[in-house]
Order: sequence, then C-alpha cells, then structure tokens
Amino acid sequence: MSVQDRFNPQSTDIFVASSPKTGTTWLKALTFAILTRSRLSGSTTSSLLAKMPHDCVPFLEFQLSDQNPSNRDLAIPLLSTHVPYSCLPKSIISSSCKIIYICRDAKDAFVSLWYFLAKMQRSDNVEPLPLEEAFELFCNGIANYGPYWDHVLGYWRASLEFPEKILFLTYEEMKKDTATHVKKLAEFMGCSFTLEEEEGGGVQKIISMCSFEELSSLEVNKNAEHRTPGISSPIQNSVFFRKGEIGDWANHLTPEMGARLDDIMEKKLKGSGLKLPR
Ligand code: A3P
Repeated sequence: MSVQDRFNPQSTDIFVASSPKTGTTWLKALTFAILTRSRLSGSTTSSLLAKMPHDCVPFLEFQLSDQNPSNRDLAIPLLSTHVPYSCLPKSIISSSCKIIYICRDAKDAFVSLWYFLAKMQRSDNVEPLPLEEAFELFCNGIANYGPYWDHVLGYWRASLEFPEKILFLTYEEMKKDTATHVKKLAEFMGCSFTLEEEEGGGVQKIISMCSFEELSSLEVNKNAEHRTPGISSPIQNSVFFRKGEIGDWANHLTPEMGARLDDIMEKKLKGSGLKLPR
C-alpha cells in the first residue's frame, strides 16, 4: 500500500517481475550483468562476485517500501517485484519504465517454493508445513502473492497489450537457449550487444558469470546472509540456489499430484494463448 500510494519510478527504470521461485535470482543476475557490462570492460570484478543478486537489484515491496532513496542506486535503473500486475503502483503502469517478467512450470515453482519456505521456517524454529498440505493450499490459490495462475496471467495479458513495455519470459526457454535470451534482454533494455562484443565472447561471459554453477559456488552466495526489510530473520544466501533444474518436481510430487496441477493450470490459462512449458 505504501508503494502503491507513494512510489514514483524513474522513466528509465526496468523491473524484474516474478512470482517467487520462478527464476528471479537468475534474471536479476543476468539483467544486472548485462546493464553494467560496460563498466566491467577491462576489469574482472563485478558486483555480482561480491554481492548476491538480491542485493544488486532491490525489491519494490521490501527495500523501497519506506521511500528511502538510499536503498537504491539511481545510476542502475534496475528494480524488482513479486507484486502481481493488478496491484502494481499506477505510477509504474503509466510511466515509460519497462518490466521483464519470468515464470516457470507451476510444479517446479511449487516444489522450489516448498523447499525455500521449509528452510526459512526451520531457521525460525517453526515446523515446516507438510508437502501435501502446502500442495493443497497452492492448488487452491493460497500463496503469498496470490494464485500462481493469476500472477502469470496478469503479466501475460499486459505483455500482449504493451509488448514494448513488458517482456514475458519462461525459465525453461531461458535455460534451453540462454544466449538468445541474453541478447533479447539486452535489446529490450536498450543496450544491445555490438557485433564486436558478440565476437569477443561478451554474451558467453555473461552467461557463465550468471550460471547456477558459478553463482552458487561464490563465497557470498555459499556462506553469507542478507537482510530483507520487513523480514525479521536474516536469510542465508544459499537458499536461493537449490538445484536450478527443469522437472525436479517429479522427484517430490506423485504423478497424480503433477497431473492435478497441470490440469488446474490448463483450465486457468485456457483461451489466454499462453501455454507454459511442462
Ligand atoms: P530450484 O529450487 O528448482 O532449484 P527465485 O530466484 O525466483 O527465488 O527462484 C529460485 C529457483 O531458481 C531455484 O530453483 C534456484 O535453484 C534457481 N536458480 C537460482 N539461481 C539460478 C541460476 N543462476 N540459474 C538457474 N537457476 C537458478
């Protein structure tokens, strides 16, 4: 409510938007690395080596909710949000700033979310919700940023209406062809790779720097923690890096649970023109 009432973006701002556990950390790393790459030429150090991606790209609803401008670096026009499209501040919708949305197969998003919340709950000495109970809630649309399908559909429909403002991506497609997506991201953010950069391996350098293997093995992401305003306990950075695979749901959900969630998603997305990868 605070950001809805008072947040004013810069016209050049770019938001990374997502439902939790759909690839936010990866997309933050990629967009940050792409946007700041010119600062890196000739240097081997990136902020990404010392700060976890969530500390490089602040959240609208956490870091920026108290309107404290020092919580963002005005020189880097990157922000992020998990807020559904329908609840974004009007100032964001009506300004010329851009939004890059990422989503993922609902089954993998659910399993990733369950593991994440269970880890957070254990570190707060709270007994995690059994997987089956959490699955029931997810299937009934009970989640902290609203039903998963509504989150995805909100940004999908907006991306059809305003294609120049909203880029809609999926984790699976990004995994399958990261190079094409890195170039697409750069173009969308207005900082396309030059031929010289491409020939010099600039795209590959960013893919490698932001890969699951590379990021998850950095000291800052293995052993450090960060604080999110509004969340009492510090969060271990390592919880944002679990497996980074497509289809891990099959190791945790029964085929019946998988089919049930697929069926729900198919019904909810029907007629929207969107088919999420499974
Ligand atoms: P899994 O739990 O399936 O492994 P978010 O960043 O939105 O919180 O999403 C977290 C998911 O993205 C986790 O999925 C995590 O492992 C995966 N992830 C984190 N960093 C990644 C990277 N650099 N490349 C690919 N996947 C990554």
